[in-house]
Amino acid sequence: ARTIAVSGAASGIGRALADLLRERGDRVIGVDRDQSDVRADLSVPEGREEAVRGVLDICGGVLDGVVACAGISDPEPLTIRVNFFGVTGLLEGLRPALAAAPAPRAAVVGSISGTQPVDRAVVAACLEAGEEEALRLAREAVARDRGGRLYPSSKSALARWLRAAAVTPDWAGAGIPLNAIAPGVVRTPMTAPLFEDETMRKIMDQAVPMPLNGHAGPEVVAEALHWLISPGNSHMTGQVVYLDGGAEAMRRGPDV
Ligand code: NAI
Repeated sequence: ARTIAVSGAASGIGRALADLLRERGDRVIGVDRDQSDVRADLSVPEGREEAVRGVLDICGGVLDGVVACAGISDPEPLTIRVNFFGVTGLLEGLRPALAAAPAPRAAVVGSISGTQPVDRAVVAACLEAGEEEALRLAREAVARDRGGRLYPSSKSALARWLRAAAVTPDWAGAGIPLNAIAPGVVRTPMTAPLFEDETMRKIMDQAVPMPLNGHAGPEVVAEALHWLISPGNSHMTGQVVYLDGGAEAMRRGPDV
């Protein structure tokens, strides 16, 4: 059996993936601030260290896969902490344990929203200046009533980080594929309030048109993540794969 660490395993997409992996015979180490094998708050550096230590304790220093699903969509700086620094910190902390496995794989959950308007300064700070500066700029964005851009910014920064990191000696050179699934709108506890509100739902349907099979449940995203981290994926890396019922193709058009 392979041992896979899954963050956000207490709810939604992470939970669906943890269930699927267990069903198919893998050992899962769930990481979440809520009920899970390793309880840690990924929004802060100490919490990320705790998460890494907790996973290493359980897996004994050799890990076959990591999938970072934990995320939030609040129009607040906390979203940058969890969705960018929480994900990259966890992945970087666990990378040596992945490198020690025979066929390691890593994946993250991006979002179609990473293609929406972002706060460029926040994105640049995530990638270059570091967490403190990114948070300072994120607080500024909130003060200017632009908090709504922080979620797309967190996912855009994550996609950019991934494309750059995936092809470095640390990842590609160590034989670790690193990819993202970027869903459209998925029915999970995160989006439940949007589905309950008629006005929000209309705005959402306009922003993220999904001509293929409408809104998916978390188990659909879990299937795609499962393949990305399976031994069957030996050659795809650095990709952000839109799993969105056609939303990205519709919105961006036929140019590739
Ligand atoms: P969810 O709210 O059902 O699950 C998120 C999980 O992350 C929860 O178990 C929560 O406790 C955990 N988490 C949040 N903050 C944490 C922290 N600071 N430390 C540790 N754990 C923390 O959400 P869902 O929908 O399953 O989302 C999972 C991922 O998918 C997120 O990254 C989200 O941005 C992304 N996504 C979701 C979409 C949707 O429509 N639901 C669409 C596109 C992307």
